[in-house]
Order: sequence, then structure tokens, then C-alpha cells
Amino acid sequence: MIGGENIAIAIDGPAASGKSTVAKTLARRMGLIMVNTGAMYRAVAWATIRESVDPDDVRGVVGMLGEVDFSCGVEDGVSTILVDGFYPGEELRQDAVNQRVSRVAAIPEVRELLVAKQRDYLELGSVVMEGRDIGSVVFPDTPFKIYIDASEEVRLARRSAEGLADAVAKRDAEDSKRKVSPLVVADGAVVIDSSEMSIDEVVSAALEVLRERGAPAEVLGADK
Ligand code: DC
Repeated sequence: MIGGENIAIAIDGPAASGKSTVAKTLARRMGLIMVNTGAMYRAVAWATIRESVDPDDVRGVVGMLGEVDFSCGVEDGVSTILVDGFYPGEELRQDAVNQRVSRVAAIPEVRELLVAKQRDYLELGSVVMEGRDIGSVVFPDTPFKIYIDASEEVRLARRSAEGLADAVAKRDAEDSKRKVSPLVVADGAVVIDSSEMSIDEVVSAALEVLRERGAPAEVLGADK
């Protein structure tokens, strides 16, 4: 967890559980860097479309990793990813990406590359990082682990309210059953079921967990 004095706050959970919004709000309130790791897996999936690589062709995808540059940075406190210098932006959330991202994310070499980039963020500052395996694999030693859940019904409604098509249950099933780094509640994580909660209520519950776990005053200090 520690890179110098920096801390990692891990926010995991299934698709459309609200974890991105909560992670963004927490990071802004505490002045930390918010890292969206789903966007990184989506960028690789997006690149397979651009490069006409079949996501089930593991050798093809691994070969592509050696040819395409995935460059991670931070803008306005939020992680960014460029694919060969190009920012795919909202294209990362299109349905074609949803449909293949879980298959791409199940490839060990993809995870190895992206997990290394995720850990590098801690060199830049303390982070709120959201994904599926942050508490279990990326930062297993951090005491700050939160798992945000929500019923499937609520998650589907949240996606369609955003005007996005996303077979969340199918993605969750694929993300949960894969061999490498599946979606799990990490050891020591506190589960917050956000189905009946507002964003503010989830953020307050998360801050309470961080306080109880002894998050440093300078991190919680910005939240006055
Ligand atoms: O958080 P999201 O829905 O944008 O993530 C997109 C996909 O990326 C998700 O279906 C599985 C994969 N993912 C992953 O395997 N590990 C992570 N830490 C984050 C996302």
C-alpha cells in the first residue's frame, strides 16, 4: 500500500454499482488522485477493435500489447489513458467495448501490464482507485478497502438512466468466474450496499470506514 507516505484507498464492486461516482467524489473531497482502472481495461478492448484483433485470440491480444502504447497520466486529479497518443474518451463506454472488455480483462498478460501501471500511480500521490481487484491484487496490504454493491435491478436502471446499453449481469458473471483476479470481496473489505442509498450517503459511509481504519488526518482533513 505504501509508496513513500502515500496511501491507496481501494474501491471495488460490480458493474454500475456506483463505485466510479463514489470514488470520484471521495477523491475530490480528500484532494487525492482518482484512478479508474476499468477505463484502462476498456482502452485495451477499444484498441482491439481499432486494430481488428479478436478478443478471444489471446496471442493476438498479447502481440498487440507490444505494438500499441498505453500511456497513463492524470488530468484534473483523475486518471487518463492515451492509446498511441489518442484519447478515446466516451468511446470507451460504447457497447462494442462493453461486449468484449471482460474477455480482454481475463488475459493474464493484459492484467500484468495494467496492474503495474496502476501501482505506479502511488508514486504520484495518494489514490482512490476503483475496479474489481484493487483490494485483492493491486493493493492487498492497504487497510482501506471498500466493496460497493447494488442489486442487479438498480444497476441496470443506473446504466439505462445514463443512456447506455450494458449487459451488466453478463459482464459480472464473466468478471467473477475468470481464473485471474476475479471480482471478489477482498479480505478485510467493508461491503456497502448502495441499492437504497444516495451518493452522499455512500460517500459518508465510506468516509466512516476510512476514519475507523485510521486514515491519516491529512487525508481526511480536506473533508471538513
Ligand atoms: O469498471 P468498468 O465497468 O468500467 O470496468 C470495465 C471492465 O474492465 C469490467 O467488466 C472488468 C474489467 N476490469 C477488471 O477486470 N479489473 C479492474 N480492476 C477493473 C475493470
